[in-house]
Amino acid sequence: MKRIVTENVYWVGKIDWELKKFHGSEYSTHKGSSYNSYLVREEKTVIIDTVWLPFAKEFVDNLEAEVGLANIDFIVQNHAEIDHSGGLPELLRRRPGIPIYCTANGVKILKGLHHEDWNFKVVKTGDSVDIGNGKKLVFVEAPMLHWPDSMFTWLDGRGLLFSNDAFGQHYASELMFNDLVDQAELWAECVKYYANILTPFSSFVTKKIEQVVGMNLPVRIIAPSHGIIWREDPLQIVTKYAQWAADYQEDRVTVFYDSMWDGTRKLAEAIAQGICEASPATAVVVHNVAKTDKNDVITDVFRSKAVLAGSPTVNKGVLNAMAGIMEEISGLCFKNKKAAAFGCYGWSGESPKLLSESLTKAGFAVVDEGLKCLWEPAAAEIGAAREYGRAFAGKIA
Ligand code: FEO
Repeated sequence: MKRIVTENVYWVGKIDWELKKFHGSEYSTHKGSSYNSYLVREEKTVIIDTVWLPFAKEFVDNLEAEVGLANIDFIVQNHAEIDHSGGLPELLRRRPGIPIYCTANGVKILKGLHHEDWNFKVVKTGDSVDIGNGKKLVFVEAPMLHWPDSMFTWLDGRGLLFSNDAFGQHYASELMFNDLVDQAELWAECVKYYANILTPFSSFVTKKIEQVVGMNLPVRIIAPSHGIIWREDPLQIVTKYAQWAADYQEDRVTVFYDSMWDGTRKLAEAIAQGICEASPATAVVVHNVAKTDKNDVITDVFRSKAVLAGSPTVNKGVLNAMAGIMEEISGLCFKNKKAAAFGCYGWSGESPKLLSESLTKAGFAVVDEGLKCLWEPAAAEIGAAREYGRAFAGKIA
């Protein structure tokens, strides 16, 4: 359904209320998502991005009914990933030859994903296309935000930035605009999106924000390709991205662990209590990673100034859920965070050392040798774990 964004600009995308997992099963979408495609109707009629492949026919049927495929002059494909380019095969099948404006990397990736040699028009930063009525589209390459092909498109004359994935959220809402939705829900999805997708590219985020802010564009609206559109104080999300990209941390500690017979859980909780006793203002969160959504754990890690990772020793290693989340955390390249490890054991007892090594490799500053406990922690070991938590609070202050 076509919906007005601003004068001569319409949303023509798809709200995906059912979506619970994105990127395969890599990213949980508790609030669904949307694939935001936009229609610009000046003297030229332009489609900015399309939708995910399963919704291609519905998307093109709607365009046919509401716009008329014959009226489309060209497509701008800000990013080739399938959740935005999935509508292209159906659209190009029914309206062959429409020019597709994208970056040089966009051409390579679109060919790699769709195996079609469409009518590509390669653009780079500063290139523009006149679309009539005194308006033009200006392209700004944004490589590694978050793929090599990513770009922004600026609608000059209407103050509108089509930012694709940047500034987006996996958040389904019919309310469509940032000033209308629940603010707690919105910001929770924004920070989760940044933490889980954009963290490794923070240096690119910083440079791109400096470049775009330096252009002094009169931004009225930021229209990303997922979630709600920023029309009230749109630069607030840019400011937040600048903070998140600068090795972000809050006065927060995340304790994450897995446990076989609850011994390591008891250590986790006692350590958390110790931190709270020593530093009451510090927000301490505790997650069993085998039972908690991993993207929510990672969001808490992103927000934290320090983490504690726990696992019992099993077969001279750590439990599967801990190994999995450590692999993911390693890939996200967190910076400026302290850490330590802990765990129960029965005989060999390598787990704190192994987790400390994983944390160091992942870029955390490990502050001590960690805490380990032979067999089940009794009152004395629980007391020692609380004391360890108090001491840890001092080391991260
Ligand atoms: Fe929303 Fe990188 O795709």
